[in-house]
Amino acid sequence: MKYVIGVDLGTSAVKILLVNQDGEVAGEVSKSYPLIIEKSGYSEQSPEEWVEKTTAGLKELVEQFDGDIMDIEGISFSGQMHGLVLLDEENQVLRNAILWNDTRTTKQCKEIYDTFGKERLLEVTKNPALEGFTLPKILWVKENEPEIFERSSVFMLPKDYLRYRITGAVNMEYSDAAGTLMLNVSKREWSQEVLETFGLSTEFCPPLVESHAFVGTITTEFAKATGLSSETKVFAGGADNACGAIGSGILSEGKTLCSIGTSGVVLSYEERNDLDFEGKVHYFNHGEENTYYTMGVTLAAGYSLSWFKDTFAKEEAFDQFLEGIDEVPAGSNGLLFTPYIVGERTPHADSTIRGSFIGIDAAHERKHFARAVLEGITFSLNESIEIFRNSGKTIDTIISIGGGAKNETWLQMQADIFNAKIKKLSSEQGPGMGAAMLAAYGSGWFESLKECADTFLQTSKTYEPIPENVEAYQKLFVLYQQVYTQTMALNEQLREFRK
Ligand code: XUL
Repeated sequence: MKYVIGVDLGTSAVKILLVNQDGEVAGEVSKSYPLIIEKSGYSEQSPEEWVEKTTAGLKELVEQFDGDIMDIEGISFSGQMHGLVLLDEENQVLRNAILWNDTRTTKQCKEIYDTFGKERLLEVTKNPALEGFTLPKILWVKENEPEIFERSSVFMLPKDYLRYRITGAVNMEYSDAAGTLMLNVSKREWSQEVLETFGLSTEFCPPLVESHAFVGTITTEFAKATGLSSETKVFAGGADNACGAIGSGILSEGKTLCSIGTSGVVLSYEERNDLDFEGKVHYFNHGEENTYYTMGVTLAAGYSLSWFKDTFAKEEAFDQFLEGIDEVPAGSNGLLFTPYIVGERTPHADSTIRGSFIGIDAAHERKHFARAVLEGITFSLNESIEIFRNSGKTIDTIISIGGGAKNETWLQMQADIFNAKIKKLSSEQGPGMGAAMLAAYGSGWFESLKECADTFLQTSKTYEPIPENVEAYQKLFVLYQQVYTQTMALNEQLREFRK
């Protein structure tokens, strides 16, 4: 039996999967690392820590493996998107990585619109200037840390830096490059127009390859550190959302994914590169050649739940914390939550807005709050589904993965709020599986990613919408949507008190 490894370099941990030719998970290791939050709105990580934790994780995986090490043929990656890693001429890291959920760049986003024009930016990059994206982060460093910027010679995204350390080769692939605001998404090339406008050279951007491209073998040093064979082939990999989609079989028109991790996304496969969503949803290159996906993002999805639990019941496990939510009716007895605890992305690109509980009543217990948090996260994701539906897409079946697929009540809630069938996969591994599939396809095990998905993935359960809940949620969704407009000005004024 042959194997591949999928490494998912996430925001809270690196998750490593060993997968065999039938798509079965034969080994699994996870190593967590912290966020570095120096002040409100900042979110950084140490690239060295990614490398250390991945090395330690792979070593552990290899130690657990009782087969022939030569049978582990390939390795590929999924990564948190947008994070800026700046390297000097010797490819040494110049500062901590500034992550996707860091929102310090509001001023730079405005500058991008002022200099380049919003319409032109949407034409070229297909996406709006958002705080989380990479170009605003580059401009922030240029303005605020000019001595560091001057020494920088190339930028990378998190998993590309990790892969560089494993192979010694500098590359980037399309699905992650799409989130930089420097790629011409439909032409699939670095936009000279963007680079010139912001005084960046072509050499600053790594060469682009396909997600399943073979980029080299692992270095002898890395082979020694992990116990892997130095013949292990390395394939480029993809953005975590592209890999989440591949690992859930979102590989043909009409397929939609709801993935709830730290952030939450609703994502739909797209063959065309010429649609116009006016920047309301993201429009990125897929990890499959020449295809795309559109996507809406809730910045704090799983993060809202973990924030709530850690703040009020740190010692409890999630299962225990969520006990009783199934006894609370749809609508949490009149309690509404908006998950804007770190600002929002879709449909309100707003770094100032913050979350609310509206309608707190003396009769509410903790279980009402817990259910309201889940409902608020799901309402937020439903805003993206509405945008897709309004653009003419049919969304009647959604594959749910991540934290949102771990709880029966939440899965049913998704069916009721999205008013669509929700499918749960039998062995759901998310982006790590997508990465493993890229390695499997890259290794030549299959003719296409679709063929790989047919072998690797199965649905285990379908949740049908319950009509009376759908009706209740449709009414509540209208109220939920008003919370944003009604609390916008309040949050603007509260901003000066945030420390
Ligand atoms: C997507 C985004 C997040 C990160 C999470 O645009 O910012 O989903 O990819 O890792």
